[in-house]
Amino acid sequence: MNDHFLWGSSISGGQCEGGYSSRGETVVDIMPQGKGIRFQYLNDPGKYLDHPDEWYPSRNGVEFYEHYKEDIALYAEMGFKALRFSVLWSRIFPTGEEENPSEEGLQFYDNVINELLKYHIEPVITTIHFDMPLWVVTKYNGFYNRETVDVYRKYVQTIVDRYADRVKYWISFCEINVMNHALYMVGGTIVPEGKDRNEVLLQCAYNKLLANASMVQICHDFDPAIKAGCEIAGAPVYTLHSSPEDYLLKLQEDRMNFRYGDVMAKGKIPFYFRKDLEKAGIEIRPEDEAYLAQNTLDFIAPSYYKSNLVSSEGTRTNPYLQETAFGWSIDPQGMRITLNELYERYEKPILIVENGLGTYDTVTDGKICDDYRIDYLKQHIAQVKKAVEEDGIDVIGYLTWAAMDVVSTSEGMMSKRYGFIYVDLDDRGNGTYARSRKKSFFWYKKVIASDGGDLENDIEY
Ligand code: BG6
Repeated sequence: MNDHFLWGSSISGGQCEGGYSSRGETVVDIMPQGKGIRFQYLNDPGKYLDHPDEWYPSRNGVEFYEHYKEDIALYAEMGFKALRFSVLWSRIFPTGEEENPSEEGLQFYDNVINELLKYHIEPVITTIHFDMPLWVVTKYNGFYNRETVDVYRKYVQTIVDRYADRVKYWISFCEINVMNHALYMVGGTIVPEGKDRNEVLLQCAYNKLLANASMVQICHDFDPAIKAGCEIAGAPVYTLHSSPEDYLLKLQEDRMNFRYGDVMAKGKIPFYFRKDLEKAGIEIRPEDEAYLAQNTLDFIAPSYYKSNLVSSEGTRTNPYLQETAFGWSIDPQGMRITLNELYERYEKPILIVENGLGTYDTVTDGKICDDYRIDYLKQHIAQVKKAVEEDGIDVIGYLTWAAMDVVSTSEGMMSKRYGFIYVDLDDRGNGTYARSRKKSFFWYKKVIASDGGDLENDIEY
């Protein structure tokens, strides 16, 4: 890896920050814990209310708001070159009614950025990581409404003006293509009664792509040297059989995922996406197309956890791969394939912004021996190295998910842990919030110090 390679990790405001009383609510704040119920209210505005018997873990996160200095000192101890975090829009504009941003909110991220720079850690900002303010949903219905693009623009202009003298890497959205499945969480949109979900999704996609272009424009207007990216959930799609039917399914699924990157990186709406937009009656304005063409991404920011499988038989389980305790396929080579697919398609530098193993950890005599996590990361980093060294892909950094344990997105669980740093907090919010170093903490420190040269797990812990 070259001297400037960005080794590090990621976190997000809605999963770690807490500080609930000093900000407005976000969309994840009203998502209760539990796989079964987490998403159940989301298409039913009538159920939008607080349910006192449910637990809403994002409201507290792991109180990064209180602990950020201690946490950043631990990241520095591991030798991070970069940390990706999200600014909470609801901390900057808590109600959506205010003319001016909250100075207290702005100051918090000033503090975080300055603390990172103190340790020479490059800050990477995501403007929305599934943590849009709730008022954007209640007032505008999220990105379904074109006005949200202007509201977003005002927010981005505010934070770019404030932070871009110190922050060189900006990511508009977390996993924009996950909106295909999680319209509320990613789009901030509830499907209006009587409307077709796919048509609503396509309108959200169109507006969100305009919003992404506006972030790119604002960043480049501030300083053309700023690098603008967007996160795409990366997952190669395999077929169960070599049948034409299965291959056609793969082609269709790939397009659902690539349609966002195709516009953001190439500045052009591809024919297959245009056809869908037109069929759904979405107005494609010539001035929008010109704007999308002028404001394309500088880098691609994939997450990578697993591969996907399609089959005309309906199965989604790949017989060649093992799964995590949470049913996610484990496919290190899929990382290399994803990097190849994205680079071949877009020919832009790639900053990997998420990769990690979410599973249960146990504390024994105060220690967390997470050899399984080390093994997972080791295998994936080895594939990143092959992609760089053997395939010639321009990977500029590798950020894991997550720097420390945070609330999981899919289930809202604390016990599904990803971090190098253990946080003493259980699924019902009991615990001291104390931080401790897992075995993987020392392993990753060694990986970074050797610039990825030494992946062996010979750590004494
Ligand atoms: C990514 C998200 O999809 O996956 C993160 O950007 C999330 O927010 C991560 O935490 C892991 O998923 P989960 O559901 O296990 O937390």
